[in-house]
Amino acid sequence: MTSDRTVSFTQMKDGTKDDYLLLEELEKPYLGLTADRVLDELRRQGEATLEGYRITRLQHGLQSATRAETDGADIDWIVGALLHDVGDGLAPQNHDRFSAEVIRPFVRWEVAWVVEHHGIFQMLYYGHHYGWDRNARDRFKDHPCFQSCADFCERWDQSSFDPDYPMKPLAHFEPMVRDVFARQAYDPAVIREGEVIGLP
Ligand SMILES: [Fe+2]
Ligand SMILES: [Fe+2]
Repeated sequence: MTSDRTVSFTQMKDGTKDDYLLLEELEKPYLGLTADRVLDELRRQGEATLEGYRITRLQHGLQSATRAETDGADIDWIVGALLHDVGDGLAPQNHDRFSAEVIRPFVRWEVAWVVEHHGIFQMLYYGHHYGWDRNARDRFKDHPCFQSCADFCERWDQSSFDPDYPMKPLAHFEPMVRDVFARQAYDPAVIREGEVIGLP
């Protein structure tokens, strides 16, 4: 608690209008720091990470984002690629959906859908080694985002475990993350629900 102003209540149901106006005022700077908290989580993924891979989770995100940018993708795709596994720390069993929720208010609908479903699409590349259905993604074959998700996984996700790939540093992507998280949440002009552009 850094503010010396606090509400009067100990139960939410007892709060007054002034209490809630105070909370609204104090929430604004907090929301403004979302990008910083997300970037902190990415940096943490450069230290505590999944064992066995040849690169850290942070490097995997950087590599995905570098590939997206190199391919000429828009800022939504680049930030989506950077953050597509950001949920691995707190939600390793459903990291795809967790990561999608982090970016959903601020990126195109297509990008959020692809991040949300990339886990099942990625199974194409390894599911058979565990006796799973590697084609589980086919349940989405009629979805308008199917090809975008298939392409995202093929070109930017499954390919991005290479310690020798010249990935850009996090500092390069920080302004893009800040720009995206500075957008008005759920702005229909940003979300563009139903619009599918595909990968460049
Ligand atoms: Fe993932
Ligand atoms: Fe990934």
